[in-house]
Amino acid sequence: MFENVASVPPDPILGLSEAFKKDDRAEKMNLTIGVYQDDQGVTPILAAVQKAEKQLCETENSKGYLGIDGLPAFHQRARELTLGDLVSEDRVAVFQTPGGTGALRVAADFLGAAFGGSRVWLSTPTWPNHPAVFASAGIAVESYPYLAADGKSLDFQAMMDAIETGGKVGDVLLLHGCCHNPTGVDLTESQWEDLAELSAQRGMLPLIDFAYQGFGCGLDEDRAALKAISVQHEEFMICSSYSKNFGLYGERIGALIAVAPEASAKVNLQSNIKRAVRCNYSNPPKHGAAIVAAILDSAELRAEWEDELSQMRARIHSTRSDFVDAMKQRDCDVDFSFLLQQNGMFSFSGLTPMQVDWLKNERGVYIVGSGRINVAGISARNLDYFADAVLEATKI
Ligand SMILES: Cc1ncc(COP(=O)(O)O)c(C=O)c1O
Repeated sequence: MFENVASVPPDPILGLSEAFKKDDRAEKMNLTIGVYQDDQGVTPILAAVQKAEKQLCETENSKGYLGIDGLPAFHQRARELTLGDLVSEDRVAVFQTPGGTGALRVAADFLGAAFGGSRVWLSTPTWPNHPAVFASAGIAVESYPYLAADGKSLDFQAMMDAIETGGKVGDVLLLHGCCHNPTGVDLTESQWEDLAELSAQRGMLPLIDFAYQGFGCGLDEDRAALKAISVQHEEFMICSSYSKNFGLYGERIGALIAVAPEASAKVNLQSNIKRAVRCNYSNPPKHGAAIVAAILDSAELRAEWEDELSQMRARIHSTRSDFVDAMKQRDCDVDFSFLLQQNGMFSFSGLTPMQVDWLKNERGVYIVGSGRINVAGISARNLDYFADAVLEATKI
């Protein structure tokens, strides 16, 4: 059987990372994968995480299975971090999941099973794994426009028009809560309010992919979408990831948070989501959730974590402006100052596929084909090399 299995193309982003590993040029740069790096090019373990792990080592007394929905202490903390007091607790079901991807897949499996023939609306562009996750669960994928023709700003009107004309009752509307991946372009508070009003009018179910809470403007500021949606919608879902904001990438920790119109509906909802989990990975891994819960349970660790998170956020902001300045100093014909308006680790650089190819082949600078850059991969050590390379690329 296996001799005849045809090969499938590698994941567009992970495939580039493989190629990067094989590249033996010393000056090579990997700006593809969505992992934070500090000024030394290291993806650090946060001090708050290390302290929480030490605590766990000393106090944990069993490696028994968790329940299907995960660690109870984590549920409460995940709900508070995202929803705060926007929605009463008894309407909210929380599932600890293996990363944000796990949350998306569980949501998709549940929606596909419970509402056969449902459709999901994705922004163009979006995180490349979105269409695959929903298609795997048998959900049809529709798309709404997102970026204006300049490739640098939001075309809010086009987005609203597409949703108004195409959105149907029961359609899922996937939104990036903040730090839109891959563009870094987000909606303003008032745009979120208008959009939430429209999606409610259309009877759509918002599903907020919340992979970067705290990486945009702040833990609370980044909840603008949730605030607007919770006013207009009685039911919605959030897929949170703690990979980036806690630096817990490999621990695979995320949450699916489902808001029901009332407490009684939540119970049935929970039982359906439990079924989706049980026949997938049965129950989630424990360690990441225990770390997140320990940090959020302790005032001291929480303060330390928030401080480390703001340092990561500040570094990303300053790296953006350092790069923009470096290009100005080089009298580059292209004005990169639009990067300053974007949020989070990613930026749509406006570099063309040809320029992206040239950067990889000639300079060992790896960027996703769409021109998406992981800004956190730039540091004082490689800024000049990168700026020189981009300057050359803009001239080809
Ligand atoms: C938009 C978006 N959603 C979900 C995820 C998945 O997060 P995780 O690594 O926690 O599975 C990512 C990760 O890159 C992402 O960018």
